Formats: sequence, structure tokens, C-alpha cells
Amino acid sequence: MVVAHCRAVLHGHSVFAGGGKVGICGVVLIEVKAGAPCVRFYGAMRKELLSLARAEVPRYTSYPTAAQFHDGVDEAVYRQWLGELTSEQSLSLYLHVPFCRQLCWYCGCHTVVVNDDAPVRRYADLMQREALLVREAIGDAGRVRHIHFGGGSPGLFGPEDFSSTMAHLRGLFDLDADAEIAVELDPRAMNDEAVANYAACGVNRVSFGVQEFAGHVQKLINRVQSFETVRGAVNAVRAAGIERLSFDLMYGLPGQRVADVFASATMTSDLRPERVALFGYAHVPWFKSNQKLIRDEDLPSSAERIEQAQTAAEVLCERGYVRIGLDHFALKDDTLAGAVGAGLRRNFQGYTEDPADVLLGFGASAIGNLPGGYAQTDKNIRSYLDAVDARRLPVVKGLVLSSEDRLRAAAIERLMCDLSLEAGALCEEMGFAIDSLDASLAATSIFEDLGIATRSGRDLRICEEGRPFVRSIAACFDAYFVPSTQEEPRHSKAV
Ligand SMILES: C[S@@+](CC[C@H](N)C(=O)[O-])C[C@H]1O[C@@H](n2cnc3c(N)ncnc32)[C@H](O)[C@@H]1O
Ligand code: SF4
Repeated sequence: MVVAHCRAVLHGHSVFAGGGKVGICGVVLIEVKAGAPCVRFYGAMRKELLSLARAEVPRYTSYPTAAQFHDGVDEAVYRQWLGELTSEQSLSLYLHVPFCRQLCWYCGCHTVVVNDDAPVRRYADLMQREALLVREAIGDAGRVRHIHFGGGSPGLFGPEDFSSTMAHLRGLFDLDADAEIAVELDPRAMNDEAVANYAACGVNRVSFGVQEFAGHVQKLINRVQSFETVRGAVNAVRAAGIERLSFDLMYGLPGQRVADVFASATMTSDLRPERVALFGYAHVPWFKSNQKLIRDEDLPSSAERIEQAQTAAEVLCERGYVRIGLDHFALKDDTLAGAVGAGLRRNFQGYTEDPADVLLGFGASAIGNLPGGYAQTDKNIRSYLDAVDARRLPVVKGLVLSSEDRLRAAAIERLMCDLSLEAGALCEEMGFAIDSLDASLAATSIFEDLGIATRSGRDLRICEEGRPFVRSIAACFDAYFVPSTQEEPRHSKAV
């Protein structure tokens, strides 16, 4: 019988045990079960992997990454790509809503603060007109398997604009009966009318931005939302019949300690969202000026970030979640967990089981992925609106995929999703000579030497300990990768 069950973090700092090759860093937690203390070591990582964790690498939500996009892909190219689509190719739609009521200081998303509804309503109207222009350019369109409203805060679309947008999309496209319709929502801005409307519109997945429950961290990131607020939002959405929930959590935030991450992961798992995404805070103030409001001295060190990431992962796995790719978790019976090793994909929203052949992006800054390549709309909201108002497709940049890009994209996607790659088989399957990726494979030998990857012939496997470094290993297959320098930082830290 359990007479007492409590957990206490003994050290918020790194604990280095041993030396040389067996050095590890982590946090000791004591669990008292039935009166007997049981020591658990969370967030453990070998010391020699620390410098690897500090390395800066792309997130690989696409390959080539958006840094390679150029203005050679414009409206004319996009129209041609849309015209070449066939009804056999299934579609996924992404709609970007670049508005928020208040700015979270850590935010790296494409959004602006608006205080009244007029600009949002105009945007909703023009995004519907953009969808019509795209649909007219396609000809015979395939079925839609997935719709995702992201942001920013799509919750700023009031019930009227949200339902008219959904009705408009249903009128333009054939939507599969079991299509996933997902919306990213802010738990602070929920109300009964909006939730009932989402359910009535067929929304079947809600993704909540949670980040961290500790009040002292919330103050430093300008996003104060209590556990009760999040629990209330979860209960409201479930009561309306929306069964699938996802939470976004973050580590590496200002003032955040391992104990905070431990508590947030535990509280998250108490609410049982079907999926959890765990993002390492990407501090890029040279690129996102709002992040200048976060003081460097409040940020956890690289060693602390690692402990935080590992601790959250271990708590979630202990509490019934399956680890997926780099940074996602899902309950065992969730479809994303089922897709591991069986068709798991990675796209701009992260990991997905969405099998659609084509991703169409709508709204300012949205990126589409078509057989011809990537196409991105204008990030500038005003010029985006002006283009659509003038009946122009607002695509301003992108990338035409070469056959080598496709091969490397497939190799990187397999590594990011399966943590393994049968490089020879992939080359042959895609019509390349079997040794086409040999130079990239050879570059992974440093990871083998560190004991976090193994290679047999052309088959590469990343060990569990190497999971946090999958982006660094994937970078060996990236023909455009240029490492960051102190003078020119390009990416965020691996962990
Ligand atoms: C596209 S944002 C939109 C979510 C929604 N607006 C919200 O915050 O409730 C999705 C997620 O990206 C993550 N995110 C935002 N800025 C980030 C940054 N600088 N580094 C890492 N993750 C970040 C947050 O976890 C956020 O919930
Ligand atoms: S994290 Fe979400 S709510 Fe906060 S500013 Fe960014 S997009 Fe808006």
C-alpha cells in the first residue's frame, strides 16, 4: 500500500558523477513510496555529448530548409504547379492566422498584435478569396485529408469567420469524411460559444499552447495562464466532443529550472492530452526582436537545457507516452504512436501521420509543399492582402526541388521520423546509384565514435541516447548546411 508519494528535486544543478568517459549530468529526484525513499536520476547525459548539444542545426521541418528559398518561385511558377495537380493526389490545407492579442516574449512565430477585430475580419475574408483563387488554378482537385489552422492565434477568428471559412473550404474542396480538422488555440481565450462552434464546424483536434506552468517563468515570458485555466479549456473542449488534444510544452525558457519542467510534464500528463510537443526555446533575438525582452542571464545553460529536455521526456514516458522522433510524444493508442515505423511524416507543423501528397498553404507566410517544390506566400500582411485583393496569388518565394534534393529530403525525413535510414535501398528505390549517399554516411562516423549511432553497410541507426542529436546527424545529409559561427548565428541549438 502506498502511504506516501512525494517527489523532491534535490539539486537544481548538474550533478557530475565520475569523470572522463563516464561523466554524466542530470538531476537527482527522491521519490518516497510506501515510506521507502527511491532515488531516481533524471536528465542523465554523458558529459562528452554536451558540446554536441550546443551545436546549432536546422529543425528540418522541410528539406531544403526555408533559408534556401528564393524569389525564382513566384505566382507564375505556383500557377503552373497547381495546374499540374491531379485528382489522384490527396491534399492537406494549412491556414495561417498571423494575429495575437498579446505577444509572448519567446515567440518565434509569424504574428503581430492586434487590438480590435477589424483587421482579422478583413484577413479572414481575403484568405477565403485566396482559397478560391488557388482552387480555380487547380482544375481537378484531389480529396482533402487534413486541415490545420495555425498561427498566431486562429482563435481570433470569431465564430462567424471561422464557420464561414470552413463552409467556404467545404464548398471548394472534397473533404474526406474522416479528415482531421485541427486548430491551434490559446487556453486563455476560450469561451463556450467558440468551443461549441468549433465542434459544429467539424474540428476534431485542438492544440493548446501551454509551454510551462510555473508562475515565475510565465511572468518572464509574458504569458500568464494558470493550471486551472488550462484544465478548464481541456474540459470545455472534451465536453464539446472534441476528443483529440495536443499540448505544446517548452524547455530552455528564462527562469525555468529542471524542477519546473518536471512539474509541468507531470501536470500535463495528469490532463492526458493525446499528444505533447516538447520544444526547446530557440533564442534568436537577432531575428525576432520581441525576444530582446528576454534577458540572456535568465536563460538556462546548455547543460540545464539538456537536463530539462531529458527530464520532461522521462516523465512523459513513465506516464504512458510513447516518444516520437525528436520532440513529440503520444499516448500509446494515438494514431501518431501507431505511425512510428509505419508512415510517420515530418512537415512544417512537426510530426504527422497525414499521408497527403500535397500541402497547400494559405495566409501570409504560409508554405506549401507541392510535387514541383515549395512555395511561400508574402510574409508582409499588407502586401499579402493587396495581392489577393488584386486577384493575384500571393506567392513570393520558394524552391524548385531537384532530384537530388528529393533523395536527400527522403533520407532526412526517414532519420527524423524512424531514427534509421537504409541509405542504399533508398537510393535504388529513387533511381539513384546505390552509393549516392556514401559521402554523407561517412560523415556520420563521428556519431558512431561517440556511440550514439551504428552503421552496418549502408544501414544507419541512431541509438536511443542519440535521439536528441538526430538533427545533427541529419545535417550530414544536408548538401546546403553551413555551420553557424559566432559572428553569423544561423540556427537554434541542437538541444
Ligand atoms: C505556431 S505556435 C502557435 C501556438 C499558439 N499561438 C499558442 O501559443 O497558444 C506553436 C508553438 O511553437 C512554440 N514556439 C513558439 N516560439 C518558439 C520559440 N522561439 N522556440 C521554440 N518553440 C517556440 C510554442 O510551443 C507554441 O505553442
Ligand atoms: S506563442 Fe502563440 S500566443 Fe504567444 S505570441 Fe506566439 S503565436 Fe501568439
